[in-house]
Amino acid sequence: MSMRSRGNGSLGAAVAIAIACGCDGPQSALAPAGEGASRIADLFWVMIVGTAVIWFVVTALAIYAVYRRESPSPPSEKRLRYLVVGGGVIVPALLLAVLLTHGLATLPGYLAPAPQGSLTVHVTGHQWWWRVRYPHAGADPIELANEIHVPAGAPVELELDSGDVIHSFWVPSLGGKVDMIPGHRTRLRLEPTKVGVYRGACAEYCGTSHALMAFYLVVEAKEDFERWLAKQAEPVSTPTDGQALRGRDRFLANGCGGCHSIRGTEARGVIGPDLTHVGGRISIGAATLGADAASFRRWIGRTKEVKPNVHMPSFGMLSPEDLDAIAAYLESLK
Ligand code: CUA
Repeated sequence: MSMRSRGNGSLGAAVAIAIACGCDGPQSALAPAGEGASRIADLFWVMIVGTAVIWFVVTALAIYAVYRRESPSPPSEKRLRYLVVGGGVIVPALLLAVLLTHGLATLPGYLAPAPQGSLTVHVTGHQWWWRVRYPHAGADPIELANEIHVPAGAPVELELDSGDVIHSFWVPSLGGKVDMIPGHRTRLRLEPTKVGVYRGACAEYCGTSHALMAFYLVVEAKEDFERWLAKQAEPVSTPTDGQALRGRDRFLANGCGGCHSIRGTEARGVIGPDLTHVGGRISIGAATLGADAASFRRWIGRTKEVKPNVHMPSFGMLSPEDLDAIAAYLESLK
């Protein structure tokens, strides 16, 4: 096999793998799990097929023109003018008009707000994590971080804000992306149709750790969602395990409550993520690490190594025993 054919073979394989991988997975606009994403995916395929047809026709005409033998009886000036006007102006204008009409037709439904009474979730972008708040009748909102749960089959209204710089909220499997702008609330309607766990990401460069600003969006059955939300509303209880109890005391003694809240304890900080049920989340550090004791230990002891320039200082000066205890406590907060 020559170098060139081997090169072409591996290029073809790479393209095939990229296409196969790119169309699937929890963060793909081409594997839609919601109304908005379905419209975007449909638009994508119509545009791809439309432009492919145009490309093939134009290429075929160009090849024909290059290889055509000179005709013994050349066409008249008038016929050539019709060809230029028809093929160069009228046909492209018609095709572009059809594609534009199809694109614009998807907008009204996609941009309309969710109906009155729909679930509203408030999300604030911070460098480099997501504050998530659910309204809670007659009480403070239910707050968590880097994870959004929504019921399947119902529209959800997302209210989007930023606490510092411009971020962009994007869950490709569920809908389009919307900027989060300091001092200006934006909104996004999502209509999840398929139960599953989807990954969202910040789609606007927002500083050093922009690439480490992701989250999970969990679409679940209505009953599961309601059970989850009721659980999130509860404060934590005193740990029964000795190690976790010691961890709670070390957490409070080291001033962690100055930045973080754990409802049910005296930790009431609002600068960093609310940690009330952090052990029950899919990730910590905005989808950077898992929510297990080893990850908590690594995060607390080596914050800046895990997420460069993050605002939370590293607590590597704590004794290994204290780090283990705090990690065990946070893991126990299911
Ligand atoms: Cu936030 Cu990029």
